[in-house]
Amino acid sequence: MRISVIGCGYLGAVHAACMAKLGHEVIGIDVDASKIEALSDARAPFYEPELEDLLKEVQATGRLSFTTDMSAAAGSAVHFVCVGTPQKKGENAADLTFVDAAVTALLPHLSPGDVVVGKSTVPVGTAARLSELVEIQEPSAHLVWNPEFLREGHAVSDTLRPDRFVYGVVDGSEDHSAVAILDEVYSTPLSSGTPRLVTDHPTAELVKTAANSFLATKISFINAMAELCEAAGADVTRLADAIGMDDRIGRKFLNAGIGFGGGCLPKDIRAFMARAGELGADQALTFLREVDAINMRRRTRVVELTRELCGGSLLGKRITVLGAAFKPESDDVRDSPALSIAAQLQLQGAVVTVTDPKALANASRRFPELHYESNTEKAVERADALLLLTEWQEYCKLEPYALAASVASPRILDGRNVLDSAKWRAAGWSYRGLGRP
Ligand code: UDX
Repeated sequence: MRISVIGCGYLGAVHAACMAKLGHEVIGIDVDASKIEALSDARAPFYEPELEDLLKEVQATGRLSFTTDMSAAAGSAVHFVCVGTPQKKGENAADLTFVDAAVTALLPHLSPGDVVVGKSTVPVGTAARLSELVEIQEPSAHLVWNPEFLREGHAVSDTLRPDRFVYGVVDGSEDHSAVAILDEVYSTPLSSGTPRLVTDHPTAELVKTAANSFLATKISFINAMAELCEAAGADVTRLADAIGMDDRIGRKFLNAGIGFGGGCLPKDIRAFMARAGELGADQALTFLREVDAINMRRRTRVVELTRELCGGSLLGKRITVLGAAFKPESDDVRDSPALSIAAQLQLQGAVVTVTDPKALANASRRFPELHYESNTEKAVERADALLLLTEWQEYCKLEPYALAASVASPRILDGRNVLDSAKWRAAGWSYRGLGRP
C-alpha cells in the first residue's frame, strides 16, 4: 500500500520505517527540514536502538522517502498522523496545535476512500472533532484512532510486534470499511497472532491515556511503598519481588527508585486530569494528582539522601550523576528525573558532573549550567558521592573495588536499586538505595 506518515519525530520516524519494513511504500512528511534531511540520509535525529539500521535497510529498497511537502500525501490510501501533543505551557492540558495543523494541511490532499489514522496521544473527543473535518472535506474518507503504545528504547520491536492493535472507528463496528484497510496495513503482525480490538473513537482515545495512567500508578504505588519501607526499615525490592509473584499484580513496572519521567507518562496523566475536569468527571482522576505528587517527591528525597550521604551538607561537594536520560537506551531528557535531581543539587551548592552514554548533547541544551563529562572514568574522579540515576548497563556493571580508587570518598546512591548492595559495602562503599535498609 502507499502510506503517508505525517510528523517524523519519535513516533512518526519509527512508524514510517516500520511500515516500509512491512512492505509498504511510505512517504514521511514533517515541517522540520533538518529532521527530513537527516532521515533522508538514513540518519535518526535521536538515539533509538535498531532505528538507523532499519532506515538504511528500507531506504535501500526504495520504499521509504521523506519530504517537507504535504502535497506528497496525495495518492496515499492511508495517512498516519504522528505529530506530538506536548503539555501546554503553564497548564496541564495537552497542546493540540500540531495535530490540528497536520490534519488541516492534509485535508486538501485527501481522495475518496482515504483513511486518516490518528496515532498521537490526544484528549478524548479529539477524534470525533477531526472526523467531522475529514468527512466535510471528503465524504467517503474516514478517520480511525489507532493509539501507539511504543516504548522508547524498544520502539522498533514494539511497532513491528506490538502487544495489540486498537482501532477506533466512528461507529465502533468491525464491519466498518476502514477496519479492512488497516488490517491490510498491519497484515504481517496480525497474521502472526497480534490481537486487534475495534472500538468507537472515544474508547480508543481513552485506551492510551488509561494505559499510561495505570503504568504511572504502578510506579508511584511501589515508590509509596518505598517511602514506607524506609520508615519501617524494610526492603522495597524484596517486597516488589514478593507481591509481583501474584499473577494478578505482576512484577513488571514495580521498580522503585527516582520515579518516572520522559515525554509521555508525566504529561499524559496531567492532560488526562485536565480533560476529565472539562468533562465534569474530575473526581474520577483525583488519585492521579497523588500519583504525580509521589513521583515528584522522589526527586526531593534523593536530594535529601545525597545531603545525608555527604555528611549533612552539599556545599562544595563534588557529586557525579551517572545517567541523564529519563531511561536507559534513550537520549531523551524530557522531564528526566536524573537531570532534575542534578540541577537541584547544583542549586543547593554541590559541584555536579553529569555523565551519560547518549544523552549529553540533549542534556547540555536543557541545563547548560551543569558540567558534563562523557568519559565515565574522568567523570567519577575525585567525587565525594556518586549517584546512579539512569540504569544504563555500563553503570550497573561498574566494579566497586576498582572504582573506589578513583573517587575522593566511596559513597554511592543507587537511585534505581540495581546494584548489589552487599558487594558495594564489602568493597568499602557507603551504599544507599531507595526504600532499602
Ligand atoms: C511509556 C509507555 O510505557 C508506552 O507504552 C507509551 O507509548 C509511552 O510512554 P516510555 O515513556 O518510553 O513509554 O517509557 P517507560 O518504559 O514506560 O518508562 C517511563 C518511566 O518510568 C521511565 O522514567 C522509567 O525509568 C520509569 N520506570 C519504569 C520506573 O521508575 N519504574 C519501573 O518499574 C518502570
